[in-house]
Amino acid sequence: MSRIWLSPPHLDGRERALLLDAFDSNWIAPLGPHVDAFEAELGAWVEGRAVAALSSGTAALHLALILAGVQPGDRVVTSTFTFAATVNAIRYVGAEPVLVDAEPVGWTMDVDLLEEALAWCAATGRPARAVLPVDLYGQVCDHPAIEARAAAAGAVVIEDAAEALGSTRGGRLAGSFGAFAALSFNGNKIITTSGGGALVAADSELAARARFLGSQAREPAPHYEHEHVGYNYRLSNLLAAVGRGQLERLHAKIATRQEHHAHYTATLGTVEGLEVMQALPGTVPNAWLTCITLDPVRLGVDREAVRLHLAGLDIEARPVWKPMHQQPVFRDARAFLGGVSDAAFEVGLCLPSGSSLTEVDRARVVDAVLSTPGLRGA
Ligand SMILES: Cc1ncc(COP(=O)(O)O)c(C=O)c1O
Repeated sequence: MSRIWLSPPHLDGRERALLLDAFDSNWIAPLGPHVDAFEAELGAWVEGRAVAALSSGTAALHLALILAGVQPGDRVVTSTFTFAATVNAIRYVGAEPVLVDAEPVGWTMDVDLLEEALAWCAATGRPARAVLPVDLYGQVCDHPAIEARAAAAGAVVIEDAAEALGSTRGGRLAGSFGAFAALSFNGNKIITTSGGGALVAADSELAARARFLGSQAREPAPHYEHEHVGYNYRLSNLLAAVGRGQLERLHAKIATRQEHHAHYTATLGTVEGLEVMQALPGTVPNAWLTCITLDPVRLGVDREAVRLHLAGLDIEARPVWKPMHQQPVFRDARAFLGGVSDAAFEVGLCLPSGSSLTEVDRARVVDAVLSTPGLRGA
């Protein structure tokens, strides 16, 4: 039996043909027509917004913070329940991250705690310059509420939609909220360019500025002229070709992941003490990863027992993100906590959710969870 991975790359469309087209045309140097086309096609996905294709989602967050005017010493309020890249990017610009806990239903930014954090920033003399909410595991934050709070505080909103391409809230696509958004095409994401990302901007001039800064900030001159610090952050034409093939299959990939989520809900969600995370009201998640929580008291086993049992059967499952306020590197950050991410980290597990996961493999995952030694109620 082969290993079942959490969320492996899935190349099932025209990726190879498009990659060969880029290769054969000699456009590997590194920008080219596939980058332009990928940007246009991605823009169509995110409500017609302007897009800069970049080398990673982290690069997108970094440039978004720069374009939002975040300066050294400024405060940026962000989600504590996220991957480290979100908060690392805040540190890249010398700003101070202020961490906000998640709400209990979808694990996205808690709006009441955001309000508290913004009030604290103002009261202590350094109002937040930006708010950076994270659409975790494909769930979509309450962006209208977050935008209203941020606007009242004079802060720019940057949406970390790295995990949420194709998810919607109120029919509007993730990546289209706020002044900027970051997308990731890392190998484990819903579509991948092996490594890659994109900055999405409400203002097309700012997207152009991101392309400029991401191409070493080279001024238009026949020689190399530089007035600003630049970055080498652009996506290569080869990888953009792969991304175009992936994007053509995004609808199908979302549908398959949603099917996995529905199947896990039907088969595991009925077990006393085991919950499958469900969509926030008004949202349709892309179901990037299906997360479950395991109550050790009611189940008789804890999350680690289940994870290790799956690992022994060659099935990859992962604990949910360890919150940033628990990470040694961010231990000095001011955090507004409600206990949700701490509790989720103790009991949360991500199950294999890739769009290449077969029904047979999915049944193997379900059987494996239910056959964990000591698990009651299955
Ligand atoms: C929430 C979140 N933000 C940012 C990133 C960074 O994206 P990348 O790996 O493309 O730099 C990731 C994923 O890797 C992520 O999950």
